[in-house]
Amino acid sequence: MVTLKKMLAGKIGEKQIQHLTTSYDIIGDIIVLEIKKELIKKEKMIAQALLEMHKNIHVVCKRVGIHKGAFRTQKVKIIAGEKRKKTLYKELGTRLFVDVEKVYFSPRLSTERKRIMEQIKPGEKVLVMFSGCAPYPCVFAKNTKAKEIVGIEINPEGHKLGLENIALNKIKNVRLYLGDVRKVIPQLKEAFDRICMPLPKSAEDFLDVALLATKKGTIVHFYDFLHEDKFSEAKEKIRKACLLAKKKCTIISVNKCGSHAPHVFRICVDFKVI
Ligand SMILES: C[S@@+](CC[C@H](N)C(=O)[O-])C[C@H]1O[C@@H](n2cnc3c(N)ncnc32)[C@H](O)[C@@H]1O
Repeated sequence: MVTLKKMLAGKIGEKQIQHLTTSYDIIGDIIVLEIKKELIKKEKMIAQALLEMHKNIHVVCKRVGIHKGAFRTQKVKIIAGEKRKKTLYKELGTRLFVDVEKVYFSPRLSTERKRIMEQIKPGEKVLVMFSGCAPYPCVFAKNTKAKEIVGIEINPEGHKLGLENIALNKIKNVRLYLGDVRKVIPQLKEAFDRICMPLPKSAEDFLDVALLATKKGTIVHFYDFLHEDKFSEAKEKIRKACLLAKKKCTIISVNKCGSHAPHVFRICVDFKVI
């Protein structure tokens, strides 16, 4: 098999090639990768090799920052190919417009979206807090018999893409709101059968407002970043929030759904309000 390392053998010194990142994200026809500082002078060569390896890729971008700020976006720089950051990505029977810089999006969460999608029963009303460009709402709408799906997103660019994606997939049972979940949820005055909270960095700060939209039987998918020795802390955060909200809950499962740093994982705790 042709690997990036093999393509670059002889062109980059043996010592330098150790710094090559061999895993990268493919989002539609865009590759997003990390270039370590030792390889900055060779980045164009690396990007060209990637374009040669993947005939269906038209843009190669390098990450120039981490996901940050309230919008969880990351800066990227185009290092080869066409001059655009917007692409069309396909997942689980949906087509999604994604701008790799203007909105948070990770193809690595596809398995997690599928895991939740498979739990949705016919007729459910689902709330996706932090909906971004609406990958969760679109995947749920296309693959389940949910009655209605509501998404809330604070990033105007993400919300705009979300609306485009609903139209692109001809989805009729999704409502998207632009705004802060803390303001929008109390205004909705609705209770849901299922609530997703895909903001691992700070979902705990919004458990109180999520619980406002629950009723007996609601299942909540609560995300967190935690060290592998401290997964039980997520359960404590949930118990504390439920106690304050005077709601009872039972933990269903703790699921590892990605790695964040050495020994630190993205986890999802599924719990039920009883
Ligand atoms: C980790 S991203 C997940 C986006 C999307 N669900 C996905 O998986 O691609 C979290 C999203 O929450 C949004 N966000 C952060 N704080 C928010 C708030 N208070 N109200 C609504 N959305 C918020 C961010 O703008 C960001 O798009």
